[in-house]
Amino acid sequence: MNDSSQVGGSLKYGRSMEALPGPSIIPDRVLRAMAAPMRDIYSDEMMEMSQHIFATLPQLAHTTAETFIPISNGHGAWQMALCNTLSRGDTVLVLESGRFAVIWGEMAALSGIEVEVLPGSDRGPIDAAAVQDRLDQDVDHEIKAILCVQTDTAIGVRNDISAIRAAIDAASHPALFMVDCIASFGCEPFYMDDWGVDITVAACQKGLMVPPGLGFLWANDKAVAANESADLRIGYLDWNSRMNVKVHYEYYAGTPPVSHMYGLTEALAMIEEEGGIEAVWNRHTILASAVWAAVEAWSTPGGIEPNIEDRSNRSTAVTAIRTGSIDATELRRVCQERAGLVLGVGIGDLVGETFRIGHMGHLNPPMILGTIGTVEAALLSMGSPIGSSGAAAAAEAISAAL
Ligand SMILES: Cc1ncc(COP(=O)(O)O)c(C=O)c1O
Repeated sequence: MNDSSQVGGSLKYGRSMEALPGPSIIPDRVLRAMAAPMRDIYSDEMMEMSQHIFATLPQLAHTTAETFIPISNGHGAWQMALCNTLSRGDTVLVLESGRFAVIWGEMAALSGIEVEVLPGSDRGPIDAAAVQDRLDQDVDHEIKAILCVQTDTAIGVRNDISAIRAAIDAASHPALFMVDCIASFGCEPFYMDDWGVDITVAACQKGLMVPPGLGFLWANDKAVAANESADLRIGYLDWNSRMNVKVHYEYYAGTPPVSHMYGLTEALAMIEEEGGIEAVWNRHTILASAVWAAVEAWSTPGGIEPNIEDRSNRSTAVTAIRTGSIDATELRRVCQERAGLVLGVGIGDLVGETFRIGHMGHLNPPMILGTIGTVEAALLSMGSPIGSSGAAAAAEAISAAL
């Protein structure tokens, strides 16, 4: 008889689990849909598919704003937002919140825009009062746009977009309010019109469960009007050529992304079958609360702790977990090489100090509980201190919703 403890092989040889904050897990249905052969891009079928996509997507952002789909990752949507509304030498205010808003600002600087960063914390949300203070000082309205993220993927924070809008209004400031929902789109509640957002940028590879390659952008009337004076307009990304479309081709400023359109159509159908975007948001909230319950249970002084202390400021798409004296690199290695679980690496200032669990998109309790149970097993195998069982806490959190 074999003594299995003496054999020592890795346990990873089942289906691996990627608990990453994007690209997220792509449903088999979406992958199969994307394997369809190419169709005539001028056919009624393709035109109708585009019309369905352009009619359905804005419902997920709760907006009637103009929809654009750059064939790009999120960076392309960032660039589209900047170059359609701003001119060389304009100033933008970046609301620092982890990594990604600052990177958007770096792109703006490379495009000839003056960038001011309003410093923020790595451990909490944007301070709306600080935004108002800064805008109050800008009496000549030098700041033309305000850039921020709803969720920052590095630190796992969720910013209060309506509170930031209220701060802008309180300062009676006319700057365009641009919000990056790349990590949060399809995961966190978002009401573009009600919250007074002028431009929303998102992408398909996280909550929308489609392989990277499509950006999404919504521009309200104020943003569309800003295009008239913008001198950073770039031919391919200029949204004018994509408005008032007569030929399907024009939506995409060229050949439509046929496979991605099939994939996105299938993903949108899945969202509808689930009960609509509110049901999807609700599932994210429950699964995120299971992850949070686990992290809080594991927490010990000097060991594991959630990066964002207050639950109400945590993202329902990704959780960043500080590991203190526990070696985050070793934890990730054990999970991946011994157990087939891929965790997100710490990024930005949190490299080496954190790991991240992505809980965005196509996920259900066995996937989340499997992830948490595996992290717990890895912690135990490393002899790492944990407060109490995160797996039990997560199961309890989910039990309340079953
Ligand atoms: C919040 C946020 N903004 C922007 C980006 C950049 O998107 P992309 O890598 O698709 O260009 C990411 C990517 O992870 C992100 O999480």
